[in-house]
Amino acid sequence: MFDSLIPRITAITASAKDVDSKLLSICELLKKEVPHYDWVGFYFKNEDKRELKLGPYAGAPTDHTLIPFGKGICGQVAESNQNFVVPDVQAQDNYIACSINVKSEIVVPLFIDGENVGQIDIDSNTPDPFTAEDERFLEFVNAEVAKIYVP
Ligand code: SME
Repeated sequence: MFDSLIPRITAITASAKDVDSKLLSICELLKKEVPHYDWVGFYFKNEDKRELKLGPYAGAPTDHTLIPFGKGICGQVAESNQNFVVPDVQAQDNYIACSINVKSEIVVPLFIDGENVGQIDIDSNTPDPFTAEDERFLEFVNAEVAKIYVP
């Protein structure tokens, strides 16, 4: 499944659309094609503040448009620079709930020239669905986005 999405991701990043439209198209593609992806969005570092700002996303609107570094799964990844796979969100103390339907989450940081400038965040309504394949695929997606995103 992920292999077949790779050329579709590169087609989006190579298209003539503006950057936000490309990011939105990626979110929509992933939400539509990956059965266990129920909310897909990008957060980026908000200027020089120690907080994340919601960028393009596909799925239900969220109140969490600004997330301080350290808060929630997203805020922890902003500081750790590591992928964070959460098989069961209810087992996490430092978690920001967006919807009662969400069972699990994966956040993968996005690096430009080695700097953590944001992340892709995916919520799933399926318990424990994420594997190393999700991580490798989402690292690929972020590496492609890193080529077009301008902080
Ligand atoms: N659950 C995230 C907050 C963002 S929403 O999933 C869209 C967190 O704990 O950081």
